[in-house]
Amino acid sequence: MTNPKDRLKVLHETIKKHNHKYYVLDSPTITDFEYDKLLRELENIEKQSPKLLSKDSPTQIVGDEPSKKFRSITHKKPMLSLSNAMNEGELIDFDNQMKKKISETPQIEYIAEPKLDGLGVELIYQNGIFKKGSTRGDGFKGEDITENLKTIKSIPTVLKGFDLPETIEVRGEVFIKIDDFNQLNINQGLKGMPHFANPRNAAAGSLRQLNSKITATRPLSIFCYELGESIGITFKNHEQFLNIISKMGFPVNNQIKKIYGHVGILNYYKDLQEKRRSLPYEIDGVVFKVNDYKKRSEIGFRSRSPRWAIAGKFKAQQVETIIEEIKVQVGRTGALTPVAKLKPVQLSGVIVSNVTLHNQSEINRKDIRVGDTIMIERSGDVIPRVIKVLKEKRPSKSDKYLLPKICPVCNEVVEKLRDDIITRCINQKCYSKIKGKISHFTSKAAMDIDGIGDKIIELLLSSDLIKNIDDLFKIKENDLSKLNRMGKKSASNIIKSIQESKMTTFSKFLYGLGIRNVGEYTSKIIERHYKSDINKLQSATRDSLVNINEIGPIVADAIIEYWSNPENIEIVSNCLNYGVVFEKEKDKKNSSLQNKIFVFTGSLNTIKRNVAKETLIKMGAKVTSSVSKKTDYLILGSEPGSKFDKAKSLNIKIVPEDIFINMLK
Ligand code: IVH
Repeated sequence: MTNPKDRLKVLHETIKKHNHKYYVLDSPTITDFEYDKLLRELENIEKQSPKLLSKDSPTQIVGDEPSKKFRSITHKKPMLSLSNAMNEGELIDFDNQMKKKISETPQIEYIAEPKLDGLGVELIYQNGIFKKGSTRGDGFKGEDITENLKTIKSIPTVLKGFDLPETIEVRGEVFIKIDDFNQLNINQGLKGMPHFANPRNAAAGSLRQLNSKITATRPLSIFCYELGESIGITFKNHEQFLNIISKMGFPVNNQIKKIYGHVGILNYYKDLQEKRRSLPYEIDGVVFKVNDYKKRSEIGFRSRSPRWAIAGKFKAQQVETIIEEIKVQVGRTGALTPVAKLKPVQLSGVIVSNVTLHNQSEINRKDIRVGDTIMIERSGDVIPRVIKVLKEKRPSKSDKYLLPKICPVCNEVVEKLRDDIITRCINQKCYSKIKGKISHFTSKAAMDIDGIGDKIIELLLSSDLIKNIDDLFKIKENDLSKLNRMGKKSASNIIKSIQESKMTTFSKFLYGLGIRNVGEYTSKIIERHYKSDINKLQSATRDSLVNINEIGPIVADAIIEYWSNPENIEIVSNCLNYGVVFEKEKDKKNSSLQNKIFVFTGSLNTIKRNVAKETLIKMGAKVTSSVSKKTDYLILGSEPGSKFDKAKSLNIKIVPEDIFINMLK
């Protein structure tokens, strides 16, 4: 049995990775159901061992930190998430809990709403005028997307009515209707642009454009459903809130209903599940909210969700199709991944023609064969997966599927270790592995070498100019321009990109090495811990790695295994010898902020305070919490506290946020 502390670390790592994929990259890779299972497992461990509950646990945080692309906006009231009921039993449990908490009511009055599958936003109005709007972000701070929201015609810029409140913050979901989504994809095709995977991704991507002219071309809609901060207006209950905001001009969904008790809950849940296909927009469940606002405040909140509301999730959409062929792909880690080529089918708005079968044990477990009719599902915006084989439809002659014993790319014998469910090509020289490794190393999130795509990598490999990642730094412009189909200009651009990439960060380089389970997020944690000292990382023991907050045993083992291969040590050392340097070291040496003492007051808008602190520390400065004669700089955020007055009285340099950001550069 894994010990709970180790499992907790693995869960932290995994959930944070998936949060980042969902909230920041807009491209989740697991279903909501699988995500909720992980979160519940973590909640259970924390319940059983409360000592293990930390402030940064994913159970305490909503979403992911806002992207650095936008200014951030602090939500006056946190934008929370909803807890989920996975089945009807859990919906009944919810009603029972509400009854216990507000015992005087025989039948609780709820407002039932569709759970829209889009992106949650907050709209801020002052004296009836739209001032600002943001995404949910991490629940406390979101991204300032005001200009993009202004392009959505159904968002009122001026509210209707007299006696408008001083402030009203209205929350809602921005989404794209199914017909609009299909038309958008047709237009993308006509322009030679890539298709969007689904309406949610298209909506999220459109809303987070840096150029609002692009957002303006996207058919975004909105329904409003919750109240944030309000000054100069109060509401008795949610029903009244929805009626009033609808009169003010906000779009409110027409499926919203007042219902009573668990009978009402179950009927609405069933009704909407049946109606789901006929609605012009995608929903992934229903939401039940206690109607009375006074009762809501009696019931209260958990750290990431209100206790007075619950989301009843729908089962994922499923469809039948046939496996025409099974192909095997070889990845950069040598993993052999069987992929079923399907008779194309339409599934929640997209055409699906491939589905991964993961590995041999997954194939065995489901007994998947070529020619089989299978049921696949796609819940929301996630990659499709096989639910089951319809054995009754299996052709009379069919064979069990076995992964090849030799690598389909290099023809060397493959290996499957007992503890690993993956079959791997262990030939270090396998073309697919090398190509995958180099492509990963050059990718944006890693060394970010512009101009080296798959075609160029193939060319470099086939002409023997490179054999591994470190060889990239040896290439000469002359060697390149001699290559077939390579112009002088392209050769010089590639060399320039390679040179420029050498000035990188420790975490990008580490991520680029492609150590198993060391993704972008984990690389940053390691960078912080080892202060960009690769020698320290190389000599780290398993225990010291596991002791790092957020590093679990899986990652620790992968790192130890990586350094146990002398070839890897040589590759890293070659890269450093060819001139790869990590920015931090340079900053520290040249920093004019060395030993300067900083204090912060007020909230920062463009950078998180802990990120600013870390950057300062990396540059050799110190950060303290109170102002004294020794303080060199007071960094002034919005709504500063008493430190501001004290710094003025002590004649300490006061630095506004924008100037501070320049200092960091
Ligand atoms: S209420 C405090 N109502 O679901 C209550 N949210 O999983 C939080 N969502 O962040 C919001 N439809 O983006 C609410 N009718 C609805 C919703 C809804 C979709 C989204 C929203 C929220 C997420 C929580």
